[in-house]
Amino acid sequence: MSVAGNASPTRDPRLGFATRIGFVLAAVGSAVGLGNVWRFPYVAGENGGAAFIFIYLLCVAFVALPVLIGEFAIGRRGQRSAVGSFRVISPGTPWWLTGLLGVATAFVILSFYSAVAGWVLHYAMVGAFSGFGEYTREESGAFFGAFIEGFGQPVFYQLLAVLATVGVIVFGVHGGIERVSKVLMPALFFVMLLLILRSLTLPGAAEGIVWLFRPDFGEIGLGSVFDALGMAFFSLSVGMGAMITYASYVSRESNLVTTGTTVAGLDTAVAILAGLMIFPAVFAFGMDPAGGPGLVFVTLPSIFSEMPAGRLVGTAFFAMLFVAALTSMISILEPVVTCLVDEWSVRRGPATTISGLAILVLGIPACLSVSPGAPLGQIMIPFFGGSLGIFDLMDTLSNKLMLPIGGLLMCLFLAFSWKSRGALAEVAGTGGNPDSIWLRGWFWMAVTVAPLGIVIILVTGLLDLVR
Ligand code: TRP
Repeated sequence: MSVAGNASPTRDPRLGFATRIGFVLAAVGSAVGLGNVWRFPYVAGENGGAAFIFIYLLCVAFVALPVLIGEFAIGRRGQRSAVGSFRVISPGTPWWLTGLLGVATAFVILSFYSAVAGWVLHYAMVGAFSGFGEYTREESGAFFGAFIEGFGQPVFYQLLAVLATVGVIVFGVHGGIERVSKVLMPALFFVMLLLILRSLTLPGAAEGIVWLFRPDFGEIGLGSVFDALGMAFFSLSVGMGAMITYASYVSRESNLVTTGTTVAGLDTAVAILAGLMIFPAVFAFGMDPAGGPGLVFVTLPSIFSEMPAGRLVGTAFFAMLFVAALTSMISILEPVVTCLVDEWSVRRGPATTISGLAILVLGIPACLSVSPGAPLGQIMIPFFGGSLGIFDLMDTLSNKLMLPIGGLLMCLFLAFSWKSRGALAEVAGTGGNPDSIWLRGWFWMAVTVAPLGIVIILVTGLLDLVR
């Protein structure tokens, strides 16, 4: 049976990915982002190194990857937006609300993600046009603090980041997303390899490798396990329908277990490589590895200011990080655009403009409320017994609540609505064997281990907030 989403003659033809590699690179572009390069290294470093990495790998393999494959299957079967795909597979049921929740989640994530992407862009510009100065770590911290607590600059760079995202999406999946991913993703890998070589050849680099990979299971608590699970979700871009949307633009041939595993493998490799890029340099310059969230924006710039050719290396680093953030932002905004195009027959141009502007309604307040000293930093919103600033609220709301709930609903959809026969046939692809052990293993995990794992993060995450 054909379920092409462009059945209506009034709709523009749905031009999808022209090549399989284009789709895989776009999906890797979505997965690889600030989560890998900015967050993963410092969280792993602070949580027992290799011990944390080990737990993270388990979370990816048994929870996030099964959900990723499920999202691919839902999208490819539906050939419609995240909302429409649920309607195609299970007409007349309320499961499409899962897709709608995903669209709402996109706004919440993009509000803070675009702010941080703006900071990255600012640092790339600083590197290119004025260099990183002669900063100690303290001075570098003061520079960063003054920047993010300002008014015009952070918003200006956030606008640029959103504009870049909109500027790609407006050209469509084939002409925009696929074309950009095919150029930028290989470039990103290449620059990253050069940066790792630079970092590993600094005198004293070995200490950083030892620190990152020391397996200290003593530092692993229940908290680290939940951190690892939440991070696996965010890093693989699952739980909001971004991957449903991308897969809806793909033809039926490939086996989705293979595709999903490739994407998850590359994403994880980049996260670990990011650690290899950052920590050898941190140790070579005698900096504090436990730099926390400031590691990338405070510690690294002060290293670039001392390192030979540091300005070039630093500019390349931030440009690379911006590319990673950009391809992720594209995958967060595209589901909103696809939804407007598929479900409300809005044309792509206006749909892109409307959703880009709508993102700013939440995004600018988030950008201006990063810390108590920021222009809107004093606004506190009550949340589960405590209260949070707007930026932190968006981060917490999406990571602790909306993504896990979205992922859980998808697992339940597979288990109770779509069921194994239909889902397995889709995952196998044309000519594939839906009875293979890998496919059955996937389905079993997607309806047992994955939802259980998600319920556990949800409950403990919420308990943690209430406490
Ligand atoms: N995975 C990206 C990162 O690691 C962020 C991201 C892109 C994302 N699309 C998403 C997170 C969809 C959740 C849902 O930075």
